Amino acid sequence: MAWFLTNIRTVAWTALAVGFLFLVWYALGQKGVSLDNEIDRRLFWGVVFRWLHVLSGIMWIGHLYYFNFTQIPNMPKIPDEQKPAIGKVIAPAALFWFRWGAVATLVTGLLLAHNPGYKDSFLIQALTLGAVESDGAAAFSNPSNIFIGIGMWLAIVMFVNVWFVIWPNQQRALNINGKFPDLDAAARAAAGRTAMLFSRTNTFLSVPMLAAMTGAQTLV
Ligand code: HEM
Repeated sequence: MAWFLTNIRTVAWTALAVGFLFLVWYALGQKGVSLDNEIDRRLFWGVVFRWLHVLSGIMWIGHLYYFNFTQIPNMPKIPDEQKPAIGKVIAPAALFWFRWGAVATLVTGLLLAHNPGYKDSFLIQALTLGAVESDGAAAFSNPSNIFIGIGMWLAIVMFVNVWFVIWPNQQRALNINGKFPDLDAAARAAAGRTAMLFSRTNTFLSVPMLAAMTGAQTLV
């Protein structure tokens, strides 16, 4: 068993396959979903997108919480000569899963809004915060589109922070991939502080954002 558990790639791919088969067993086997008809197909893919969306959200927000609750508060306790282990090895690896987790979450989230499975697409309705409604309904007549729309925009703002503020500033602060060899210590410290402040902002936004993500379907 150790040969399996010591390789994270094998564990991750096998777990994904088992999870997918589990969904197939439940949806197709137990609930009688048939991929032959359009409504059932939407339901099935809605369930798959929802699962992948939550998985990738955990990858993203899990790393965000690691930075904010574990790494940043404990850095001052680490002796200077040991700090490169975090700055040169752990943080760049964590930033990889963090920023690509954000991409996967955004893509699966947009797919989910387009096909939630249990109802028609509400992508445009949510992104316009209910200003555009379907079937001739009056603008802002459906609070659930406003609610999930606010959650989606909070998450999109967080995504922009990750890719356009936190990641470029972390590259400067830690000289990741040797892209900024000439920056002095003051410039690196300033970039690190900007990254930290935006990362902390995302930690804050993640809490109301998740209220919308988890509340939308329950209160529909
Ligand atoms: C990046 C932009 C994001 C978009 C566009 C997005 C979009 C969505 C949509 C459309 C839903 C379905 C709501 C419904 O069916 O009523 C949803 C649900 C959900 N999202 Fe997101 N989301 C995003 C980010 C995140 C993040 C960062 C997380 C963090 C974990 C997350 C976690 C969830 C969870 C837990 C659900 C509920 C699933 C359920 O109850 O079945 N989302 N999201």
